[in-house]
Amino acid sequence: MAQLPKGEIAPSDGLLPLVFNSSDNSFHAYVHIPYCLTRCGYCDFNTYTATELGDTSQSEYFQLVIKEIDFAKDVLEKSGSGPRKLSSVFFGGGTPTLLPAEDLISIFKHLVDVFGIEAGSEVTTEANPDSVDEEYLQALKEAGFTRVSFGMQSAVPEVLKVLERTHKPENVALNVSRAKTVGLETSVDLIYGTPGESLADWRRSLEAAIEMNTDHISAYSLIVEPGTKLARQIKAGEIESPDEALHADMYELAEELLTEAGFSNYEVSNWAKSPTLQSRHNVSYWESKDWWGFGPGAHSHVGGVRWWNVKHPAAYSERILSGVSPALERELVDQENRNIEKVMLEARLARGMDVNWLKENGFGEAKVLSELIADELVDGKALIGGRLVLTLKGRLLADLVVRRLLGF
Ligand SMILES: C[S@@+](CC[C@H](N)C(=O)[O-])C[C@H]1O[C@@H](n2cnc3c(N)ncnc32)[C@H](O)[C@@H]1O
Ligand code: SF4
Repeated sequence: MAQLPKGEIAPSDGLLPLVFNSSDNSFHAYVHIPYCLTRCGYCDFNTYTATELGDTSQSEYFQLVIKEIDFAKDVLEKSGSGPRKLSSVFFGGGTPTLLPAEDLISIFKHLVDVFGIEAGSEVTTEANPDSVDEEYLQALKEAGFTRVSFGMQSAVPEVLKVLERTHKPENVALNVSRAKTVGLETSVDLIYGTPGESLADWRRSLEAAIEMNTDHISAYSLIVEPGTKLARQIKAGEIESPDEALHADMYELAEELLTEAGFSNYEVSNWAKSPTLQSRHNVSYWESKDWWGFGPGAHSHVGGVRWWNVKHPAAYSERILSGVSPALERELVDQENRNIEKVMLEARLARGMDVNWLKENGFGEAKVLSELIADELVDGKALIGGRLVLTLKGRLLADLVVRRLLGF
């Protein structure tokens, strides 16, 4: 089985050797905002505090992104991709809401001026619960944002302390309620499996999130990322290792309480109150649609070309200001790797995958499929109906199911 190709150095003009046009021509924008007030001990996202960045200025950042938007339009035109109206926009970080609302709005308006946007598109920003107020949310709503995703992580102060989260827990409910009042959809991110967190703590966090009446919840098991402060603390014995044996119970509790409260799981880590409240932007990633990622370290995927920008904000700024593509490396995704990625991403969706497609493309031999059913990882009934759908146990072991389907 072929592995994904290695990245090659991206050309300075950024031109794309487009391999194919995406199936539905939909186009999505991700805007990375690489700033946080402090770095949480578990986080290895491409984000920087003011102390780490020295004199690299946050106040001018939006102008750099605006230049990359112009650059993107030019590259797409010259590469023969044609005009692409946006179908969703997502501001992520870092902490996008550390910037003034006007900066996010300027970037969004420029995206719309340059590309246009389909009516009814989803426009989301991530937010730290401490970094917005009613006025900020109102300004976003008036400018056309539709959704805010808050980094809640936990409702339990001791757990937040281990994670080094600095936000006030009460600000999550307050800002979810404010966002709903001004007419924005809401989501909250939760983390389970923090060292020292009990099943009762996790229940408390889930109940608190449900109580807020949010439209959407993402729940991630804590990953101890190498190189983070948390990893060092665990290695030094200052913090105990996460109790992996609890993870399955925690995931099952999430499924139970969220289903009872009217949420439906649509991807392994994501639950929504109704199909229209799913994150359409994230679904576009899982369906391998075309998107342009703006900002340092952002990844893009257009017409079978995948590339990623230079990571540091200073290097990004230097390239953008000298009119050079911020892309560092890129790779062409051929049909075989496209198929592999499709299995990796779509098997995680609750709607599952078409079994005929799997068979036609060399995945899921009859023997593998019957073993997955015997191991209770795949729903036997759905399979008879032509869909490969994970069971609850399969969702917990989604990576294993994917490896078995791919024959890795
Ligand atoms: C960019 S952050 C969200 C916005 C904002 N920076 C915040 O944290 O409040 C995206 C989400 O990734 C999740 N996350 C980050 N690092 C993680 C890790 N090591 N393990 C599991 N989830 C993680 C958190 O739930 C976080 O809310
Ligand atoms: S606020 Fe979010 S992006 Fe920033 S360090 Fe914490 S988890 Fe990472």
